[in-house]
Amino acid sequence: MNGNAGSRRLRFEIFRYNPQDPESLPHMQEYELEELPYMSLYIALNRIREQQDPSLQFDFACRSAICGSCGMLVNGRPALGCRTLTSDLPATIRLHPLPVFELIGDLSVDTGSWFRELAESTEAWVHAKAAFDPEASEERMDDDTAARIYESDRCIECGCCIAACGVANVNGHFRGPAGLNRIARFMLDPRDERSDGDWFDVIANEDGVFGCLGMMACQDVCPKELPLLEVYAYLRRRAVAAGLAGRERGGDPAAG
Ligand code: SF4
Ligand code: SF4
Ligand code: FES
Repeated sequence: MNGNAGSRRLRFEIFRYNPQDPESLPHMQEYELEELPYMSLYIALNRIREQQDPSLQFDFACRSAICGSCGMLVNGRPALGCRTLTSDLPATIRLHPLPVFELIGDLSVDTGSWFRELAESTEAWVHAKAAFDPEASEERMDDDTAARIYESDRCIECGCCIAACGVANVNGHFRGPAGLNRIARFMLDPRDERSDGDWFDVIANEDGVFGCLGMMACQDVCPKELPLLEVYAYLRRRAVAAGLAGRERGGDPAAG
């Protein structure tokens, strides 16, 4: 990475469209900008908005790969705008909003509704039968399990993996890489008392882990480098085990 480059004149081609405006038509708009040393797309887009076009829509909050709000297609590849340096890109930079998610305008998409629907439909919270006791001492967990849960919890819900996933792009019901990772996080958690049978309907179908084609575009673009391949292997093992257990009982795996 040569973050100290900064003598080029950059040409930005940016997707523009406001779905709220009946007169707006999708098109690409061009801007030019002097490159600065260590210039990220966050800095570049803010300069364009401040100096050339206040109507340009895009999202940033943390500027440090934590909030997950700045995912966009950078020359066709999903990436975080705050983490992408212009010096790592050619002088012509083409920006589009992430596909799959509802477009708010220009580069801004609604990932929040997608992740909320996922959390609600998969009940992404710990299901324990015992009532919460604020006086009880903290439950112990072995280090390996805690580390694996922590690894899944590092997801910042930026949506880059979902935008990169061919299956998520054509099947709106597919849980998507981040969704499967979220499900695995609760399946791993020993405090969650849902059985394999409870999970079977969620993961053992084309909208779940069996819909994944395994080409790993998701893992390639994940800015947090989550081990998604391992997550899918774990889900497949659990789904197959639940299916076999259900067959041995001679009934519906989801009833187990
Ligand atoms: S490996 Fe599976 S989840 Fe990841 S991009 Fe490919 S199809 Fe989508
Ligand atoms: S798994 Fe990675 S790419 Fe996907 S939403 Fe989470 S942090 Fe973003
Ligand atoms: S601005 Fe928060 S992840 Fe980029």
